[in-house]
Amino acid sequence: MKVISVKTSTEYNVYIGSGLAGRVGEMLAETTSPCTAFVISDENVFRLYGERVLASLANAGFRTGTFVFEPGEQSKNIETYGKIVEKMAREKLTRSDVVIALGGGVTGDISGFAAATFLRGIKYVQVPTTLLAAVDSSVGGKTAIDLNAGKNLLGAFWQPAAVFCDTDTFSTLPEAEYLNGCAEIIKYGMLGSEELFESVAALPVSLHYDAVVAKCVDMKREIVENDEFDRGGRMVLNLGHTVGHAIENKSGYMVPHGMAVAAGMCVITRAAENLAFAEKGTAERLLRVIREYGLPDGTSAPAGFPEEELAGFSAESLFEAAMNDKKASGSKLTLAVPKRVGECALLTIEKSEFIDWLRAGGLK
Ligand code: NAD
Ligand code: GLY
Repeated sequence: MKVISVKTSTEYNVYIGSGLAGRVGEMLAETTSPCTAFVISDENVFRLYGERVLASLANAGFRTGTFVFEPGEQSKNIETYGKIVEKMAREKLTRSDVVIALGGGVTGDISGFAAATFLRGIKYVQVPTTLLAAVDSSVGGKTAIDLNAGKNLLGAFWQPAAVFCDTDTFSTLPEAEYLNGCAEIIKYGMLGSEELFESVAALPVSLHYDAVVAKCVDMKREIVENDEFDRGGRMVLNLGHTVGHAIENKSGYMVPHGMAVAAGMCVITRAAENLAFAEKGTAERLLRVIREYGLPDGTSAPAGFPEEELAGFSAESLFEAAMNDKKASGSKLTLAVPKRVGECALLTIEKSEFIDWLRAGGLK
C-alpha cells in the first residue's frame, strides 16, 4: 500500500492499494471514534462494492446509513443533493459523524458538497472507484453540484479526512471509464512528468495501477498544497480542458469528459508548437500515445460521431462554446499550454485570440 500525505488547510492521507474497500472501517477507526458512517454511492457502485464497505464499517464498530442514487452526471444536481441532506438530517447525523463517498467523481463531488454544507461542515472520506476519481477528483477538496446554468456552479472547497483508493475496483470499470481516466493520466505526464508520460506510453495504465495512481496523486498533492483555493498554479490541471469543455458542450455532453480532454490536449499542444511556444516534436509524441490508447486527437470526430458532424467541432463552433462558458468571465482567458512533454505553463490571452489557437491547433 502507498500512502501520500496531503498538507492543505486540513491534513489527510491518501491510501492507494489492493483490497482497501474491505478495510475502510478498520482504517477509519484508527482516527475516528465509533459514530455513524453515512455511505453515499450510485447504484452501479453500490451493487458491486456497497456490502463490502458496509460490512467493514460495521465490523469496526460504526453504525451505518446509506443513500444510493441513479448513476450519472444528471444526478449531480440540487434535487439529489436535497434528498441526501434531508436523509442525513432524518438519520440525525452530527458533526461527530462521517460521510463516506463511495464511487466516481459524481459521487465524490456531491457527497463532498453535502458534507461541506450539512451542519456547516462535517467530516467525509473519499473511496474513489473510477480511475478519474482516483487520480483527480478525490484529492484536493473541490466539491460541487451542477446547476441548470452550467456544470459545477455550486460548490465549496472542503478537504476529505482521508482517501481510500482500492485499485482492485478498477477491474470492473467499463472500457470508456478506463479511457477517461487514462486521458487524465496522460495529462499529468504532459503537464509535469516526462517519466510518467513515458511509463504509460510503454505500458498500459491497467498493468501498473498502483504506481501510476500514486504518481498522479503525488503531483496533484504538490499542486494543491501550493494553491489550495485555485487562484493560480492549480490551473495547470486544466490542460486540454478549455477545448475539452467546448467539445463536451457542443456534443450535448455525448462526448465523455476524458475523450474531450484528450482531443483538447492534442489541439492545444499542436497550437503551442505551431505558435513556437512548445518544443518541436512535442505534439507528435503526444499524438502517438493518444492514438495508442484509442483516444481522439481532435482532428477527427470522436468515437460514435459521424465525420459529417465534425462541423460541430470546428474552430468557429468551439470558439463560440468557449466564449459562452459561464466560468470564463472577463475579456481574458488563461490557458495551460505545454512547453514540452513534462512541462507546461499558464498563458493569459485575450479571449478573441483563442480562435487563432484553435486554428493553429489544426481545427478547420
Ligand atoms: P462517475 O462518477 O459518473 O462514474 C462513471 C460511471 O462509472 C458511472 O456510471 C459509475 O456508476 C460507474 N462506476 C464507477 N466506479 C465503477 C467501478 N469500479 N466499476 C464499475 N462501474 C463503476 O464519473 P467520473 O468520471 O468518475 O467523474 C466525473 C465527475 O467528476 C464529473 O462530475 C466531474 O465534474 C467531476 N470531477 C471533479 C473533480 C474535482 O476536482 N472535484 C475533478 C475532475 C472531475
Ligand atoms: N480537477 C481540477 C482541480 O482539482 O483543480
